[in-house]
Amino acid sequence: MNASNAVNDKVDQAQWQVAQTWEREFWLRQQKNLAKLGKNHVWRLLSLFGVVEKYRGDDDNQWWSKCFDDYRFLPVQTENVIEVGCGPYTNMRLVRKACSPKHLFLSDPLIRTYVGFKMTFVHEMYSEAGCYLDDHPLEDLPYRNNFFDLAVMLNVLDHVQDANACMQSLARIVKPGGFIIVGQDLTNEDDLRAHPDGMRTGHPITLNEKWFGPHLDGKFEPIINKVLPRAAGRTPQWHYGTLIFAGVKK
Ligand SMILES: C[S@@+](CC[C@H](N)C(=O)[O-])C[C@H]1O[C@@H](n2cnc3c(N)ncnc32)[C@H](O)[C@@H]1O
Repeated sequence: MNASNAVNDKVDQAQWQVAQTWEREFWLRQQKNLAKLGKNHVWRLLSLFGVVEKYRGDDDNQWWSKCFDDYRFLPVQTENVIEVGCGPYTNMRLVRKACSPKHLFLSDPLIRTYVGFKMTFVHEMYSEAGCYLDDHPLEDLPYRNNFFDLAVMLNVLDHVQDANACMQSLARIVKPGGFIIVGQDLTNEDDLRAHPDGMRTGHPITLNEKWFGPHLDGKFEPIINKVLPRAAGRTPQWHYGTLIFAGVKK
């Protein structure tokens, strides 16, 4: 079994658009369900008493946070921070408990949809002018080289059009001495066979840990660098491992 046969790191624009339509519809459906039967009002009440988080919705962000030791390795304060492919609920809402950014950029091609989701971190931060929103795909980020002190990319690369271009963008925008945080479900051939019909639609890219080598090795000083085994992953039925990487750009 050659795990590299399962790598597919680029798709055409049309296939990516189909994946993004799938993604957008998924979150719109989920938001509709979350709001049913006045459940948002109940949530708001419970959050006042501290029973639940203030913001509603979690795409395994709590799980990622635990994998990264709740981001405790980061400085308490920093200047320019971006989460790319931030999704509707973001990991930044948890990262900032450890590390408070002066300027926060939330970037996702679907951000114009997500900002309309009430009771979310994206919605509230934008309403109170607490962040910049950006809808560029990661392949084409418009920021200058070496601008960011921290870039976060969790659970994004299997959704993009060109994974190599995305990793290059990420490395480019972080300054020497700045941090990157990357988390990614990994796929081998057994996993590919187990993927249910239609899964590819929303997840056109599949990667293994070897694929990351040229993008990370020698370019970042690792702080956390591990591959969780299948059983420790979010979706062990579909992914043989999970890359957990945090490092400082050399
Ligand atoms: C599964 S969601 C994860 C969201 C978020 N990272 C999280 O962990 O909650 C994947 C996100 O990647 C975004 N995405 C897809 N293609 C992208 C691209 N080329 N550049 C940046 N983000 C992209 C999607 O719009 C989607 O919001």
